[in-house]
Amino acid sequence: MGFRAILGPAMHDDLSSDPAGDAVGDAPGARAVPWWQTATGYQVYPRSFCDSDGDGIGDIPGITSKLDHLADLGIGFIWLSPVYASPMADNGYDIADYRAIAPEFGTLDDFDRLVAEAKARGIGIVMDLVVNHSSSEHAWFRSACQGRDAPFHDYYIWRDPAPDGGPPDGRRAAFGGSAWSFVAEVGQYYLHLFSPAQPDLNWQNPGLRAEIWDMMRWWLARGIAGFRMDVISLIGKDVDGGIDEEGPYLHGFLQEMHREVLAGRDLVSIGESWSVSPETALMYCGRDRHELDMVFQFAHVKEGWDPVHGKFRPKPFDLVAFKRVMFDWQAVMTNDGWNSLFLTNHDLPRQVSKYGDDGEYRVRSAKALATLLHLMKGTPFVYQGEEIGMTNATFTAISQFRDLEILGHHAESVAAGMSEAEFIAGANVNGRDNTRTPMQWTDAPGAGFTAGTPWIDINDNHVRINVAADRADPDGVFAHYRRLIALRREKRVISHGALTPWHEPHPQVMVYTRDLDGERVTMIANVSGEEVRFAPDPALVAQGVCLVHNVAPRDAVTSDLALAPWEAFALLSRADGTTPLAA
Ligand code: GLC
Repeated sequence: MGFRAILGPAMHDDLSSDPAGDAVGDAPGARAVPWWQTATGYQVYPRSFCDSDGDGIGDIPGITSKLDHLADLGIGFIWLSPVYASPMADNGYDIADYRAIAPEFGTLDDFDRLVAEAKARGIGIVMDLVVNHSSSEHAWFRSACQGRDAPFHDYYIWRDPAPDGGPPDGRRAAFGGSAWSFVAEVGQYYLHLFSPAQPDLNWQNPGLRAEIWDMMRWWLARGIAGFRMDVISLIGKDVDGGIDEEGPYLHGFLQEMHREVLAGRDLVSIGESWSVSPETALMYCGRDRHELDMVFQFAHVKEGWDPVHGKFRPKPFDLVAFKRVMFDWQAVMTNDGWNSLFLTNHDLPRQVSKYGDDGEYRVRSAKALATLLHLMKGTPFVYQGEEIGMTNATFTAISQFRDLEILGHHAESVAAGMSEAEFIAGANVNGRDNTRTPMQWTDAPGAGFTAGTPWIDINDNHVRINVAADRADPDGVFAHYRRLIALRREKRVISHGALTPWHEPHPQVMVYTRDLDGERVTMIANVSGEEVRFAPDPALVAQGVCLVHNVAPRDAVTSDLALAPWEAFALLSRADGTTPLAA
């Protein structure tokens, strides 16, 4: 396939293999590494990326028209949020036909063209695989509801009512309400861990699993580079035992998927999981497990939520706790397994608003967050708009929100005593619509996203914060991301070096080193809006070459550093620290 083809030899460390396995010239004696360990992913949320036909909804031709932007950024693959046919109750995470494209997003021809045009630019397309549940509009579910003997009845999870006629148990759905809904024709309830429009598939049925394997092979035959697997920890549930997350059948199913679909192909498989822990991570992605390539986990995100009231009552950011979580996960993956690196996605707030400063230090803090994340070990993911430092939207009325999670919890939270104002404030901080406002390409009225009326309000700040303005600035956020993404491809110490945390109790500064084959990268970031006087551990004092910075280049880590607000930099030195690298 040749995803590296157009990037040119100077852009590449010759130790990386090719995404499709036809790489040439691995250095003698060096261990070839999979392409996804040196690549950076970019998440496209199609509805909000680029609208080519003026209906206010982003589409596949719109994505294709922006591939040069992504190629310039240097990414290796796009994680494409769902583009399948769907009634869009959850913006496509409710699939009605796994082999068709939603008409508002385009056609299969448009999709094939996207894959081809992306490939020509060295970019793979990773599909979102949403198979814990389908849409309630899927033909399988329609059939399943016709009665207990209907052909696809057993593709879903049905249980008798409780003796009082109510739901079989007290399970709650993630988007509010009971996780069970009654179907009169069947006389039973079906399980939906998200919304009633998202019935859970019955993975115990071997026919269902065979359909899924076949569907995955069908997409792979179209030339895609892999799958991001939605809430994958839920597929192995033990319904009657009350175990939904990481149930007893999970790893058996993932091993079957590997045998049937993934084995022997050069692709990337990414498992989204809200429950995976340091104790269970290697069961998914340990090298001898034959399951997935990496986990996409949320420990650092959940750290910022209220333990009782959850995401809609956010906790203030605590750097020490954040470092502990991030470094714990780095330690788990030291010798085996592989992690994803991200601070935001389509379910999470914009990172510069959540962790940085979206006011005075917006650009600098966006770069600092990118620096401290991208120089860790794992595969970084950039969510659309992050590369120009887009910020959270601030909605003032519940009518501006579109997300079924926010709307579902609104009624429940207000009924439980939360004020309307507190709920909206929480939804503006941690809700999912923040990152779903349209991509800001220009300062024009539709932000260069649409010529029509957008499906959700565009952030007013697009007149200042947009791709055209940021890219015109050599010190813009985009230029910084491009540098970090290139460094990962070029420097094996960044993709694979061992990580050592330093100064873990420091409440404002994050420090780590990466070491490989006598080379060391030292990353120092002031994660605060104040100037910080900081005395690095003597073992960190070093001279070297500044790899990346957001204030001014530094050629040394000295024993007494005055760090500007949100200053971050990385120094490349020899491991002994005192000897500058030869040019
Ligand atoms: C995942 C998706 C999210 C979706 C949910 C149900 O967490 O990222 O957007 O609502 O699964 O499919």
